[in-house]
Amino acid sequence: MILPIYTYGQPVLRKVAEPIDKDYPGLDELIKNMYETMTHADGVGLAAPQVGLPIRLLVIDLAPFKEDNPELAAFKITMINPEILEESEEEIAMDEGCLSIPGINETVVRPEYIKVKYLDEDFNEHIEEFDGFRARVVQHEYGHLEGELFTDLVKPLRRQLIKGKLNNIVKKKIDTKYKIK
Ligand code: NI
Repeated sequence: MILPIYTYGQPVLRKVAEPIDKDYPGLDELIKNMYETMTHADGVGLAAPQVGLPIRLLVIDLAPFKEDNPELAAFKITMINPEILEESEEEIAMDEGCLSIPGINETVVRPEYIKVKYLDEDFNEHIEEFDGFRARVVQHEYGHLEGELFTDLVKPLRRQLIKGKLNNIVKKKIDTKYKIK
């Protein structure tokens, strides 16, 4: 089932999300719906707050990169209760966008490498290292669980310039091919 995506201005996007356990009701269905919603909206990552749920769950699927980068395209991952254990001092700049902030793409600087502890959909624990684009997507989605949006991290001057666009999103004066809330 395709779920509406909560956009900039929705309070749930600013909450620190809560950890969940195996008993969370309808979890398998929710994960399935999140992948479906993300794919339908042409996204590569989606966090539960973006579908209105303040819980620590995110999904990533880089399959849309299969033409340009087959190696990246194989990256598909569900993370429950992720925790960033380490991050590099070295930072890199990359362009980011977000399904909750349609029509805005900005350069964001973040650590190049991270080490993450997380549970998969079967609640098995993993500790994994990510760098480059993978690390970028994981950090962006992880930010959602902390109530952070990528626009918080753009340079002050640029943030000033996109203020009007952000206000339009709050007022829902935007056009998206996916359902928003
Ligand atoms: Ni996002």
